[in-house]
Amino acid sequence: MPGHVAVIMDGNGRWAKERFLPRFAGHAKGVELVREMVRACLERDIRYLTLFAFSSENWRRPQEEVTLLMQLFVKALDQEVDKLDRNGVRLRVIGDLSRFDAALQGLIRDAEQKTADNHRLHLTIAANYGGRWDIIQAVNRLSAAHPDKREAWSEADLEPFLSMAFAPEPDLFIRTGGEQRISNFLLWQLAYTELYFTDTLWPAFDTAEFDKAVRSYQQRERRFGRTSEQLPGTADA
Ligand code: IPE
Ligand code: IPE
Ligand code: MG
Repeated sequence: MPGHVAVIMDGNGRWAKERFLPRFAGHAKGVELVREMVRACLERDIRYLTLFAFSSENWRRPQEEVTLLMQLFVKALDQEVDKLDRNGVRLRVIGDLSRFDAALQGLIRDAEQKTADNHRLHLTIAANYGGRWDIIQAVNRLSAAHPDKREAWSEADLEPFLSMAFAPEPDLFIRTGGEQRISNFLLWQLAYTELYFTDTLWPAFDTAEFDKAVRSYQQRERRFGRTSEQLPGTADA
């Protein structure tokens, strides 16, 4: 099993359009699939699940859709946090939260605090998140922490300041909805992640689809720059 799965949940709008429904209906259905995905991770002992819910570029959408997405986010937090807590899920939200209204920021803080002692599953929602933003905010915090340092920085110096510093790097990346791009998701952290792209739209990405992605991952050989023969379990290792 992958220890950390990161997902770009794409295709809500198209799913709704195929059914002659408003885009919002696709987002609402998408929330149900998040619930199913969390359950699947709990059942499979996957410890980290990171979901891209709203990118820093998604503000460019029509105002009405942005507002509806925010309302959906608030509603989901309101309704789900107790259940997540009971199931041992620790919730975190990463991204530039300063652009969200005060009520939503408060809900996020409360949900994070309420679940802070849980460790069965680390559920992270990326909201107003961008991979480039993450790297730059880490650089800024690193240099503020060491104002007088003149030597060159190392990767290890920067890593504690990245938003996902608490987690191992993703083992499996999934993007639904047919697009084969990263869309400014976890740029630093995906360096050696196995990538899985599927045409299935997010509201149709059920547990069976997830298991397909996991099986694909299980057939990959993760070499991290080495040759096949050097890997554990082979004669030359
Ligand atoms: C992903 O679905 C959800 C968000 C970006 C919030 P989309 O809304 O991008 O759906 P499509 O890509 O238009 O089908
Ligand atoms: C990426 O989806 C971000 C999320 C799923 C939250 P988009 O649908 O916004 O991505 P692009 O713009 O098509 O790459
Ligand atoms: Mg999309």
